[in-house]
Amino acid sequence: MNVLIIYCHPSRESYTYQILCQLKNVLKKENIEFQISDLYEMDFQSEMTEQEYMREGLLNLDLPISQDVQKEQKKIENSDCIIFLYPVWWSDCPAKLKGWFDRVYSVGYAYGYDSEGNKIKKMENVKYGISLCTAGHPNTFLDEIGIAESMRKVMIDDRLGMRFNKKEMIILGGTLEREKVEEEHSETVKNIGKWIKEYCT
Ligand SMILES: Cc1cc2nc3c(=O)[nH]c(=O)nc-3n(C[C@H](O)[C@H](O)[C@H](O)COP(=O)(O)O)c2cc1C
Repeated sequence: MNVLIIYCHPSRESYTYQILCQLKNVLKKENIEFQISDLYEMDFQSEMTEQEYMREGLLNLDLPISQDVQKEQKKIENSDCIIFLYPVWWSDCPAKLKGWFDRVYSVGYAYGYDSEGNKIKKMENVKYGISLCTAGHPNTFLDEIGIAESMRKVMIDDRLGMRFNKKEMIILGGTLEREKVEEEHSETVKNIGKWIKEYCT
């Protein structure tokens, strides 16, 4: 079983990085193999080029797919579970992760229609997808103002969408008062290892 972590945070001093370290330990303990796409460390290009737009926007599937995008697509193909780990910035993921979806979910790979209107996508369904994000506001507040639901709709219903068999949105909220939430967050991260084992084996 293989897990792919798409990790997006610029700083190793961050709380989100602490969560990454905990997650790695949990997966190791459960003997689950994993690899990480650390988007900042890789200097992953998040902006779509004009040439890429000509392919995506004008549905010209004969144009080539960039090497870095192909590498990410290969990683998806080798994964039973993908965990997207990121901080909530302005009620969404950081721009770099949004750019990963813009570019890696290329037409004909993650979505698309042929000239007869039939759905075409090469990407096989991944068993399990987890969106795991840290947020400054507490979960109760994000629920109250409807932002938790809008983030869930965009990440789970659209970006993970029909490409994953089982999907989970986990918000580790309240990080502005870290000491109050750290223990609960650690427990949640511990459970992720068990859920992956239960669902993917
Ligand atoms: C640019 C920026 C925008 C942010 N926007 C939000 C937001 O919309 N909602 C929220 O709950 N927290 C927001 N936060 C707080 C982060 O979610 C929080 O700092 C992070 O989850 C945990 O801290 P870390 O950066 O140390 O990992 C924002 C933080 C930054 C830097």
